[in-house]
Amino acid sequence: MERQEEEDDMVCLDQSFFIDDNYQLTTFTFGSQVLQLLCLQSASTDFDLTGQLVWPGAMLLNDYLSKNAEILQGCTIIELGSGVGITGILCSRFCSEVVLTDHNEEVLKVLNKNIELHASSDNPEYCAGLTAEKLEWGNSEQISQILQKYSRGFDLILGADIYILNCYSFALIIEKQSSITSLFDTVETLLRVRKEGTCKFILAYVSRAKTMDSLVISEATQRKMQINELVGTRSIVGNLEGVIYEVNL
Ligand SMILES: C[S@@+](CC[C@H](N)C(=O)[O-])C[C@H]1O[C@@H](n2cnc3c(N)ncnc32)[C@H](O)[C@@H]1O
Repeated sequence: MERQEEEDDMVCLDQSFFIDDNYQLTTFTFGSQVLQLLCLQSASTDFDLTGQLVWPGAMLLNDYLSKNAEILQGCTIIELGSGVGITGILCSRFCSEVVLTDHNEEVLKVLNKNIELHASSDNPEYCAGLTAEKLEWGNSEQISQILQKYSRGFDLILGADIYILNCYSFALIIEKQSSITSLFDTVETLLRVRKEGTCKFILAYVSRAKTMDSLVISEATQRKMQINELVGTRSIVGNLEGVIYEVNL
């Protein structure tokens, strides 16, 4: 009887109760490129919903790409951890094919909305080959499904601000180590589809903890990958130091 009363007293809250999807249409300018995207203005309560807003790493990468758009001309691109899609959508203005990916269902919803928004803009050529796919780093089934569709692989793999350390506990550092491992597993699979050197991973990294800075470099070097800082990209974004790395086999 007591148990029944306890159960009756339980308040059932739908998962959607905790999700802020009050996205605002926001304008971003990178050189001559103006983008309008739906995004949140501040972080949601759920750590895993980081992709609902635009991060400093994306601002750094988009600024670099808009100034060096020749490296994108005619390329095929896959972006990892796309969030609202600001980087991939900018790239679609220069590339032949862009696949934006994320693992979070809620983030994929707003990503698809932004793709639709872009496709319905005044310049239909901007949305050439722009699609979203679910991809959890390290998930071999999902990556092979993508590679079945894009069997020639990609010229560029992009990632902006795709790992964050929000606490300095040892446990979390271990967890982030494994997320870096699965991120690099996916990157390595994608790099290996192409002959050596014809696919690169461009990573916009924003430093939030010294431990993470060294983890990224050591993960790449352990795999015998080349990791180089792109000259002139080290800068302050927000109040943090950012840099763009180029990684290849
Ligand atoms: C900090 S946000 C960056 C979003 C976007 N690149 C930007 O800079 O605005 C990190 C993104 O990576 C995605 N992500 C985190 N862990 C992931 C994983 N294990 N597999 C795939 N995506 C992941 C999140 O859902 C989120 O969209």
